[in-house]
Amino acid sequence: MVQGSTKSIAAFPAHQAPGREMVRAGQSLLDRIGNTPLLRFDRLTAPLPGVTLLGKAEWYNPGGSVKDRAAANIVAEGRRNGKFTPGKILLDATSGNTGIAYAMLGAAEGFPVTLCMPTNVSVERKKILQAYGANILYTDPGEGSDGAIRMARELAAKHPDLYFYADQYSNDANWQAHYHGTANEIWQQTEGRITHFVAMLGTSGTFMGTTRRLKELNPAIRCISLQPDSSFHGIEGAKHMASAIVPKIYDPTLADENLEIATEDAYEMARRMGRDCGLLLGISAAAGVFAGLKVAEQFQLRKEQQAVIVTILCDSGDKYLSERFWTEG
Ligand SMILES: Cc1ncc(COP(=O)(O)O)c(C=O)c1O
Repeated sequence: MVQGSTKSIAAFPAHQAPGREMVRAGQSLLDRIGNTPLLRFDRLTAPLPGVTLLGKAEWYNPGGSVKDRAAANIVAEGRRNGKFTPGKILLDATSGNTGIAYAMLGAAEGFPVTLCMPTNVSVERKKILQAYGANILYTDPGEGSDGAIRMARELAAKHPDLYFYADQYSNDANWQAHYHGTANEIWQQTEGRITHFVAMLGTSGTFMGTTRRLKELNPAIRCISLQPDSSFHGIEGAKHMASAIVPKIYDPTLADENLEIATEDAYEMARRMGRDCGLLLGISAAAGVFAGLKVAEQFQLRKEQQAVIVTILCDSGDKYLSERFWTEG
């Protein structure tokens, strides 16, 4: 029935319609980036008295991941410093989420986006990118994100006037998004009580920026970086630094500790979070929760007083639902 729509049109008869002055209501897409909720996992920490485990739910960003923050800041900084002039195509290598963020921003702000990525990124990601109208150039899955980086570098070098090479792996605007945003949000949301910060390394922007600012706010906060335990892993978005092209923005001396995570442990935690906590997490987010619990257990052994452990839940499980592991455990 069309009754509903007829009614809603009739709700603004011409003589009562708003005036012609500019309507200021509503928010832009950019306004919705950041200020994500911090979720508590009390059921997981019930056997660990004194421990609070919190996860920053980054899928609340409009593009569905933590990478909206970096992408938006890279675009804004490119505009500010004159490298991203009107007419240029934004080009980058991305394993998925940054690409989605660029593509979303490009569609919203009216600039073209070309992305280099391995063919084996999830079907869901490819479909989202197509829906936003991005141009995708596929690289050899055997070369992982490094193959995509090499292609983007070659294209950028060959056509400097055509492309704005965003280069998330070397661009300081990446980690600065977290220095100015994520870290301060965590500090405010925990009322300065955070004791441990745990995050997966990809470009390393999230860990670098958040850790730098948190250490300024309280140098005693222990910051623990996470990596997959081998070069052949299933934690999308994560980098095994020992075998990968190391991002220029990565400083290994910043972490107090680095934990290696097995893909199977991340899968197991993703299943557990779905079934026991009602939360569908992405794989790196599940790895963050797994590592947060590991840190919590170490803390118990040391018999300290209170721990407030914060991890980053980079994205939700939606984009991984075609993977088999959900039903394998
Ligand atoms: C799902 C996921 N987890 C973790 C990361 C790593 O974040 P960062 O690049 O800030 O290190 C990414 C980056 O793309 C990601 O997409």
